[in-house]
Amino acid sequence: MSRPPVSIRDVASKAGVSVGTVSNVLNRPDIVAESTRRRVLDAIRDLGFVRNESARHLRVGHSRTVGLVVLDVANPFFTDVARGVEDAASDAGLAVILCNSDDDPAKESRYLDLLEEQRVQGILITPVTAINDRLEHVRRRGTPIVLLDRMATDDTQCSVAVNDVLGGELAIGHLLSQGHEYLAFVGGPFTIRQVQDRHQGAVQAMRAAGQDAGELRTVESSALNVAAGRDAAARLLGTRPRPTAVFCANDLLALGVLQEMTRRGVRIPKEFAIVGYDDIDFAAAAAVPLTSVRQPRQLLGRTAAELLIEEVTEDSSHQHRQVVFDPELVVRDSSDRTIGRLPRRRRPGNKGVTATPYPA
Ligand code: RIB
Repeated sequence: MSRPPVSIRDVASKAGVSVGTVSNVLNRPDIVAESTRRRVLDAIRDLGFVRNESARHLRVGHSRTVGLVVLDVANPFFTDVARGVEDAASDAGLAVILCNSDDDPAKESRYLDLLEEQRVQGILITPVTAINDRLEHVRRRGTPIVLLDRMATDDTQCSVAVNDVLGGELAIGHLLSQGHEYLAFVGGPFTIRQVQDRHQGAVQAMRAAGQDAGELRTVESSALNVAAGRDAAARLLGTRPRPTAVFCANDLLALGVLQEMTRRGVRIPKEFAIVGYDDIDFAAAAAVPLTSVRQPRQLLGRTAAELLIEEVTEDSSHQHRQVVFDPELVVRDSSDRTIGRLPRRRRPGNKGVTATPYPA
């Protein structure tokens, strides 16, 4: 059986460079360092790579740009993803047009029109809603699309995502292992697939532990930001029985919960544990370092951009791939009860640490 043709990605992997760098060696060798160019040419020779003449260049008649459409540029998760996209695009001599959909399907659609008018080489997008016909129309008109932070539903297009169901299981499994019985989930709008999947993982972890998933107190916030987290904390403190731990669908929500709980004198994690999602830089830097489910943010962006560049330069020989990364749980002070246990200090006349219960 004949081997599949050697792809530009195979050459990049053997030479230890990005797909964009191989594209530059083929199309713009003058901008590539001699040592790098030599490594790539050696890999081309050793692998027997034959470039597809019809796809020798980036798409002729298109600008040297790619579009990146994200849900919220104010969310550091997307800043980190965009950094990975820009690294790969820059290697291929491309610029990135960053668009912010604000979770708004109409705004997303306007940006798709604009990017097509700009004749971008391709589009990377975290869709606001389900993968809809709108995206299909753009692809049928000839603009490649790679789904970013969303799994494709079939193998007709490339996608790069994280297993968010596993992420939810890791978060709730951790809180259950800490002995928590009254748990809460704080999400953004459940129209966002990432929120749905994380909640599904949380429910699956409860059931796997023999817990009644109906006991998971679920708060659906209007947005995935810090202000929504503060509001959610106020709602959680008013519920009975009061939860002793919360899993938030992203770190911004979790930081808002942490801020409001601390303002109300709730001791974290001794009286209330918090777990977030993304592991943005602010998570570790928080006043009480935040436990979070880490996503490989820059790698997500770089991988998606390289798939797009490969599709654009390889054209018909390109094979679509659906890449899924596994998240990992990073435990910090906000949920580890052993860290939160205050040492008992004995001073003359002091009967020990007096716990100040947070307001009933
Ligand atoms: O886009 C909303 C959330 O989903 C982000 O915080 C990030 O977690 C993404 O996966």
